[in-house]
Amino acid sequence: MKTAFVTGASAGFGQAICRRLVAEGYRVIGGARRMDKLQRLEQELGENFIALELDVTDKASLERAVEQIHEASLAIDLLVNNAGLALGIERAQHSSAQNWERMIATNITGLALITQRVLPRMVEANSGLIINIGSIAGTYPYPGGNVYGASKAFVKQFSLNLRADLAGTRVRVTNIEPGLCSGTDFSVVRLNGDMEAVQALYKDVDAIRPEDIANTVCWIAQQPEHLNINSIEIMPVAQSSAALNVVRNL
Ligand SMILES: NC(=O)c1ccc[n+]([C@@H]2O[C@H](COP(=O)([O-])OP(=O)(O)OC[C@H]3O[C@@H](n4cnc5c(N)ncnc54)[C@H](OP(=O)(O)O)[C@@H]3O)[C@@H](O)[C@H]2O)c1
Repeated sequence: MKTAFVTGASAGFGQAICRRLVAEGYRVIGGARRMDKLQRLEQELGENFIALELDVTDKASLERAVEQIHEASLAIDLLVNNAGLALGIERAQHSSAQNWERMIATNITGLALITQRVLPRMVEANSGLIINIGSIAGTYPYPGGNVYGASKAFVKQFSLNLRADLAGTRVRVTNIEPGLCSGTDFSVVRLNGDMEAVQALYKDVDAIRPEDIANTVCWIAQQPEHLNINSIEIMPVAQSSAALNVVRNL
């Protein structure tokens, strides 16, 4: 039986990915801070789901979680670096330093350190797949995207650089870059619980659903071992690029 480790398993994409991987026959370790949510998922999914308390911004918590996995002699075949968040939509000149620090700690430092702790055993086994959850925000700038988008650009480049370091091994790395997705807590967190603003954002938009991202993860993991899917960019049909902004009479 293959083992997957999914970070950010208590909600949204992570939860849907755990459900899908268990259905596909994986043993899944799901990490997040909210243990009550993980325990509910454990009740739903049964013995093939293991809830693991994890705060990726807390080095001690991260070390403890990885140690627990090693002590249980579980070799991770698939790591899904999904834990992440955006905080605020203000322009850079009005944004909060605290929000920036938390996004960097979670989306950059947390993701990098989890990878750093899991990777050596994958290389030793000469097998394994890392799927990072980036974002289209790492490629396309938008007002208010500032540090969030930059953190996802890190995820994109980190994924490519990992591939360079892993040359000569069978360890694979993919970056999934989703666009607008509804049905997760992402915008509730970003807009600090302002449900009116959240509803306005998704009003009359047929957005990506968490199950779509779970399907994508599953498809990547099913590819033959001689293939590496470097990246996948996914948008809902309802979302597309617009012209660059031009300010007149500046
Ligand atoms: N939804 C979108 O439109 C969208 C689009 C592109 C990319 N993404 C990316 O997709 C990923 C998942 O987002 P989502 O939409 O599923 O959001 P979500 O529903 O808010 O889920 C985020 C998950 O990350 C976990 N998390 C946050 N901080 C953490 C920490 N310090 N330590 C451990 N876990 C932490 C949360 O768990 P706890 O709070 O319990 O710790 C939660 O399980 C993120 O990386 C996000 O940037 C989302």
